[in-house]
Amino acid sequence: MFHPPHPLPSGAPSSRRREKGAARPDPRQFIRANLPLAPVPLAPEIRLHTAHPASGLWRLARIDGQGFGSPYWAYPWAGGVALARYILDRPATVAGRRVLDLGAGSGIVAIAAAMAGAIQVIAADVDRYALGALGLNAEANGVVVEALLDDLTAGLPPPVDLIGVGDLFYERDLARRVTAFLDRCLACGIEVLIGDPHRPFLPRARLRLLAEHAVSDFGEAKDAATGTSAVFSFGPNVHGDAPRYGSRSP
Ligand SMILES: C[S@@+](CC[C@H](N)C(=O)[O-])C[C@H]1O[C@@H](n2cnc3c(N)ncnc32)[C@H](O)[C@@H]1O
Repeated sequence: MFHPPHPLPSGAPSSRRREKGAARPDPRQFIRANLPLAPVPLAPEIRLHTAHPASGLWRLARIDGQGFGSPYWAYPWAGGVALARYILDRPATVAGRRVLDLGAGSGIVAIAAAMAGAIQVIAADVDRYALGALGLNAEANGVVVEALLDDLTAGLPPPVDLIGVGDLFYERDLARRVTAFLDRCLACGIEVLIGDPHRPFLPRARLRLLAEHAVSDFGEAKDAATGTSAVFSFGPNVHGDAPRYGSRSP
């Protein structure tokens, strides 16, 4: 598990109770009121509703209780930033193609794909706040993105030409499920691009490095040495090996 820079109260989200009598917050209303639009570092063409220390994510978590997971949607992550930069610099990667942003969060990869000329862009996430954020972010950037509240990793490959995955290999089980899903997609002829700051559960043996960018990861102090985030293409398992994941925790 890794955490955003303004961490929430300790305790698993499922142990939180909604504040007595409080109505469930509307994600779009909260985001519009408390997370101002800010340009993305390394991809300033894109502006996202981004949390700052006074955004009140703690308050939101308290009000919403169990419905509130980690607010990944409130920030652009290093993997998504690198992949967005890659797509914006190489529009031919997505132009005229159908693109899925898997684990979209703020929708940064989807927005980059739409800006670069994809004919259809779907952004999928399992968090209803992410759906709110990515809808607002798409509007703010003047692009159309279809938002999907679903865990696609459990199902069949979607009808798209390319899947972009930004920073989704941060937990072992999730990495396993995502890798198995991407394998099924690859077998159907879908291209897969991954943006990731070298997290421990990346399926490294399956990746070919395409580009690398200097991007600060979350929680790094502003003056910390900047880390890197890479863009990879995901390829077939030519040796038939079982996936190997690092043992180091994030
Ligand atoms: C670290 S964030 C990355 C967000 C964005 N791609 C970026 O790079 O900024 C991971 C996102 O994946 C979502 N997620 C986790 N498991 C998922 C699943 N099975 N299907 C779709 N989204 C998932 C989380 O809700 C979260 O929004």
